[in-house]
Amino acid sequence: ATVTYDFNITWVTANPDGMADRPTIGINGQWPVPTIRVNKGDRLIVNVLNSLGNQSTSLHFHGLFMSGATHMDGPVSVTQCPIVTSDLPFTYNFTVDQPGTYWYHSHIHGQYPDGLRGPLIVHDPESPFKDMYDEEVVMTVSDWYHDQMPGLLGRFMSKANPTGAEPVPNSALLNDTQNVLVPLQPGKTYLFRMVNIGAFSGQYIWFEGHNMTILEVDGVYTQPAEAAMIYLAAAQRCSFLITAKNNTSRNFPIVASMDTDLFDTLPDGLNWNVTGWLFYDTAGPLPQPAVVCDPFEPFDDMGLVPWDNQTILGEPDQTIALDVIMDNLSDGANYAFFNNITYVAPKIPTLYTVLTAGEHATNPTVYGTYTHPFILEKDQVVDIVLNNLDPGKHPFHLHGHNFQVIWRSPAKAGTSAGSNVTAADFPSIPMRRDTVVLNPNGNMVLRFKSDNPGVWLFHCHIEWHVQSGLMATFIEAPLAVQDQTLDTLDTHGAAGEVA
Ligand code: C2O
Repeated sequence: ATVTYDFNITWVTANPDGMADRPTIGINGQWPVPTIRVNKGDRLIVNVLNSLGNQSTSLHFHGLFMSGATHMDGPVSVTQCPIVTSDLPFTYNFTVDQPGTYWYHSHIHGQYPDGLRGPLIVHDPESPFKDMYDEEVVMTVSDWYHDQMPGLLGRFMSKANPTGAEPVPNSALLNDTQNVLVPLQPGKTYLFRMVNIGAFSGQYIWFEGHNMTILEVDGVYTQPAEAAMIYLAAAQRCSFLITAKNNTSRNFPIVASMDTDLFDTLPDGLNWNVTGWLFYDTAGPLPQPAVVCDPFEPFDDMGLVPWDNQTILGEPDQTIALDVIMDNLSDGANYAFFNNITYVAPKIPTLYTVLTAGEHATNPTVYGTYTHPFILEKDQVVDIVLNNLDPGKHPFHLHGHNFQVIWRSPAKAGTSAGSNVTAADFPSIPMRRDTVVLNPNGNMVLRFKSDNPGVWLFHCHIEWHVQSGLMATFIEAPLAVQDQTLDTLDTHGAAGEVA
């Protein structure tokens, strides 16, 4: 089927934590923004009309592979130009072949924390778990700022902030509010789909009196795994079963707690927890959380096994080694680097360079140093070896793929990935996802197959670090990208008419 959404992007006023009204980016006059729902195999069309007036925009559909449709991926300066304010919509149009829990967000000038981010659910009539639950609940967790991103970013990227301290959120939200009630009926089983749509903070999440059975992370079905607490970094998703009690005698707190290890300072009065409730007893009280967990012991996602039992890909044909470094440049501001390069958006979207460079599209120099381009050949096994020279956590995301997480060190393990680690250390069936946390001063090896021609960003999903340059561009099978994209444009008429 074809599923169409018409999105008119405008400013609205919101106050989700009850502390401050603020201009927020909404859709069709609403905030929170709608959840996109499709079935696996559907064509999704999203007509985006920018009515903001003062900012351009774009949408990225996080976690979807965009096979054969890299020009629909959404990051501005990478696969498209900005969508400007006008009375003509920009149309995203692609098929969705993966099941599971995703989200969509703006992918330009650090904009999504101002409100333009929401869940995207791909229902799967063939899900191996479909008989295990009665109902489905979509939930988001997020951090929240009272100030708008342009001002926060200006201060963050200035010489007044030489250490690169990220702005600390003002509060945490569950379902974009601080008093969500999730009605449960006795004895029923629920599939919760939880998405961290935040800008910065990871969140510890637990349900008092209830265990979770994890069934999916980032769109990858897993062997069922029991967890008392999970951790979701910015941009990660998890779906899990919760079985309701057999009686309605009381309500139970749902707690999401921001990972304060990420914060350079803890401002006075900051409440880093947000509570919601599993709501059984409509006349009963809403209890405060009994335990505030410290130390936190979330389920270790390295212990997950993909449902399809996909084994580790063979030895890499290509290895991309990236050191994560934070350092100051001559303007006194703090930037993030992969090796010695901090990403700077090109004036011409990188995809357009692929399409116009002819046979030179395989030569990285045509893309400019500051897009940090890596050319991948088709159908190779690629390793990304990350060494974190920074004492912070970084949730890394690759567009157009998920990856096998074949190695991840604990914090402070040093920067030896690729030298001290050998194939004997790798699991035979590694877990797979599209966003994974690199530990502070630790190391990690991600492996994937370059089977999806396109222009794909690899970046830290902390929106502050996107802006300070922790991004690289993977230009995968550029000659195949030329063929597939020019064919598509032909079908849509544009190139055909010019010819
Ligand atoms: Cu959630 Cu570059 O993306």
